[in-house]
Amino acid sequence: MNGSGRPSAIQVVSMTLEDIPRVLVVDQLSFPLPWSSATYRYELTQNANSHFFVALAEQARGASAASHGRRAWLNPANWFRPAPPAPPDPNRPVAGYSGFWYILDEAHISTIAVHPDWRGQGVGEHLFVAMLEKALDLGAVSATLEVRVSNERAQKLYRKYAFEAVGRRKRYYRDNGEDALLMTAELKGGYRETMRRLFAARPKGARAHS
Ligand SMILES: CC(C)(COP(=O)(O)OP(=O)(O)OC[C@H]1O[C@@H](n2cnc3c(N)ncnc32)[C@H](O)[C@@H]1OP(=O)(O)O)[C@@H](O)C(=O)NCCC(=O)NCCS
Repeated sequence: MNGSGRPSAIQVVSMTLEDIPRVLVVDQLSFPLPWSSATYRYELTQNANSHFFVALAEQARGASAASHGRRAWLNPANWFRPAPPAPPDPNRPVAGYSGFWYILDEAHISTIAVHPDWRGQGVGEHLFVAMLEKALDLGAVSATLEVRVSNERAQKLYRKYAFEAVGRRKRYYRDNGEDALLMTAELKGGYRETMRRLFAARPKGARAHS
C-alpha cells in the first residue's frame, strides 16, 4: 500500500527463478500444504506446459532504482554521462502469484494466491485475468480448476469470470480431507471481450467485502 491507503501499481509478469523465494513466502502464508522451491524450479525450467506469473508491487523493498542512481552519481566518472539504466530489481515485492498448465486446448489453473496484506485490492483478479489472457493467446477453449468447497472468496472470483461448478472431487485436500469443487469455464465466443469489460469495470483500490 502507498501512503494514500490505495494499493501501489501492480504489474503482472512471467515468474522467474529469482522470484521463487518471495513466491514461497506468499505460498506459505496462503496454503496449508505449500509447494517447495524445487517444485517451482521444476515448473519454470522443466515443464514446457507451465505458465506462471507474479504480481509485482511498484515499490521496492531495500535497494531501489533511486538509490542505484544515487550511488552512480557519487562516482565523478559518471557526472558528465547520461544516467545508467537501473538494473532489474530483485527486491520488488511479490504481492501474489498464479500458474496454469496448458494441455491440449485446455488451461488447468494450478495455483493462485495473494499475500494477505494485498488481498481485496484487485491483485487476485489481475493475476486471474492475466492467466486467462495467456490461455486464450495459446488457443485454449476451456479452463478448469479445483477449489476447496469452503473457499467462497476464491469461488466468487471464479464465478465472476463464468466458471461453473461441474463436479466434486471427494477428499481431494490431504491436510483436512476436504472436498474440491471442480470448476470449468468455456473460453469461446466473446469470452475475451467480456472478461476485459468485467476487469476494466472493477473500481481501483481496496474493496470492502462482506
Ligand atoms: C482468492 C484470492 C486469490 C483472491 O485474491 P484477492 O486479491 O484477495 O481478490 P481481488 O481483490 O482481486 O477480488 C477479486 C474478486 O474476488 C472475490 N473476493 C475477493 N475478496 C473477497 C472477500 N473477502 N469476500 C468475497 N469475495 C471476495 C470477489 O469476487 C472479487 O471481485 P469484486 O471485488 O468485483 O467483488 C486470495 O484471497 C487468496 O490468495 N486466498 C488464499 C489462497 C487461495 O485460496 N487461493 C485459491 C486457491 S483455489
